[in-house]
Amino acid sequence: MLSELNYGSRKEVKKIIKDGNVKINDNIIYDDSYKVNEESDEIYIYKKLIKYEKYIYLMINKPKGYVCANIDKINPTVFDLIKIEDYKKDLFTYGRLDKDTEGLLIISNDGKLAHELLSPKHHVEKKYYVEFDGIINNNKISKLENGILIDGELTKKAKLEKINENSAYITIVEGKFHQVKKMFASVELEVTYLKRIQFGKLFLDENLKLGEYRRLNEKEILLLHP
Ligand code: URA
Repeated sequence: MLSELNYGSRKEVKKIIKDGNVKINDNIIYDDSYKVNEESDEIYIYKKLIKYEKYIYLMINKPKGYVCANIDKINPTVFDLIKIEDYKKDLFTYGRLDKDTEGLLIISNDGKLAHELLSPKHHVEKKYYVEFDGIINNNKISKLENGILIDGELTKKAKLEKINENSAYITIVEGKFHQVKKMFASVELEVTYLKRIQFGKLFLDENLKLGEYRRLNEKEILLLHP
């Protein structure tokens, strides 16, 4: 737990314990194999009561230039934007946004929820604001909404809301690789800007500047469940 809370490597936290800096409830613990009860134990490190959260749920406004991968040799990753106090080794993104896509991304270490959310049977809606080169018309809108063959598979029904000839909102329920770009490309529209503004019942918090994130509150965590 201490190393997960970023108090140091396993070796370093063993020393913190051996030196008598960890108190659980009323007792100083010197045994580094002591098993804490995450629900009920009060844990003090250097006399400070710490809050241990098993799961963390973050909403980030992803900027361009960052990739959704745990490690990348060339590009910065979205995890580089997470402050040390919020960082956990087992964080991952709920789905992926392309390097040049902006907007709402959920980062968490709750794998069970991710599995439910990303399962195709749940049809979680994702809404994007799209700008494109080329002119959209009713025929193209109908094709985008009713299904387009990409990589040999027909896309599920989508909803398109035209803003003007070069921009629109699209809501899709799948998450195929480059899906929105491929859908638009198939009706001769080239996506020039893409931003996710909704994921399931959650909307991008407009107070978050690009690269900023915040924790989801209890209500939002519940909303996230399909
Ligand atoms: N569709 C895309 O083409 N790219 C994204 O990043 C997300 C959806």
